[in-house]
Amino acid sequence: MMYSEKVMDHFQNPRNVGEIEDASGVGTVGNAKCGDIMRVYLDIDENQMIRDVKFKTFGCGAAVATSSMATELVKGKSIQDAMKVTNQVVMEALDGLPPVKVHCSLLAEEAIHAALWDYAQKHEIKIEGLEKPKSDIHEDEEEEDEEY
Ligand code: FES
Repeated sequence: MMYSEKVMDHFQNPRNVGEIEDASGVGTVGNAKCGDIMRVYLDIDENQMIRDVKFKTFGCGAAVATSSMATELVKGKSIQDAMKVTNQVVMEALDGLPPVKVHCSLLAEEAIHAALWDYAQKHEIKIEGLEKPKSDIHEDEEEEDEEY
């Protein structure tokens, strides 16, 4: 299996790993295919701009790399523009992923959407094109010692 240099770079030096205290929105999703988990924290200012974003995952290297890139791409964007950062856009920014790893890249997009959904719920707003996340997992279902 071949990974692009960008994938290797983001896997070895992932950007935006961690968590945000009192985040504006938090989303946690699971990958139905492999059971891996991804959580995204968003810090959104009063103008609905994403001031900061962090992620934590139990996912594989491809999930780490796509989340690293996805968080880089949504940082500093408005919540509307963040919606345009699809897993397709993220994969292109990484110069592609092996086909068997495409499902891993979905975790980042889904977790960002789940975090945006959480933010929208808290602020009673509607974000164009955003749907309720299929699977939002709660804290107590995790095994903390396996964290990335
Ligand atoms: Fe689970 Fe990649 S194998 S996220």
